[in-house]
Amino acid sequence: MLKVEEQQPVEFSPALLTKFDEIVKRYPEGKHKSALLPILHEVQAELGWLSAAAMDKVAAYLDIQDIEVYEVASFYSMYFLKPQGKYVLEVCRTGPCCLVGAEKLMGHIENKLGVKENEVTADGLFSWRGVECLAACGYGPVLQIGPEYTFYENLNEQKVDELIEDLRKK
Ligand code: FES
Repeated sequence: MLKVEEQQPVEFSPALLTKFDEIVKRYPEGKHKSALLPILHEVQAELGWLSAAAMDKVAAYLDIQDIEVYEVASFYSMYFLKPQGKYVLEVCRTGPCCLVGAEKLMGHIENKLGVKENEVTADGLFSWRGVECLAACGYGPVLQIGPEYTFYENLNEQKVDELIEDLRKK
């Protein structure tokens, strides 16, 4: 069952609402529901994640059921249903990457950052999680770092430590 976080009211900025209008115009009359995915990306870019209240507002804007938004948001791993760190380390946890150490690497990241999967570090900088295949199966372990989704292959603990330290210095 979908678990969504707080229902705290949210306000979308006027600029975000303008983007909604522009996105909807890309689709034929009566097909405005197709704007849901790009609109959710814009909401996440502004708020950092998709709360239940934010998704309800999107549903109201598109004149669709709340559950239709929840279904989409919970299906795609690029949507965050909980607050995340500024940088989100997403490690492939699918079979081929696990064979070359992805699970061990996730354990290392958990220890290094001091937070469990989908939790946020105290400084707000990092969260991490396992995701399904990132389509670089021959180059594992693999991870991508949001929000820009920079991609890293052939990882080991030392390389991950360097990545984290570089992000801390930014
Ligand atoms: Fe990890 Fe495909 S199994 S990228």
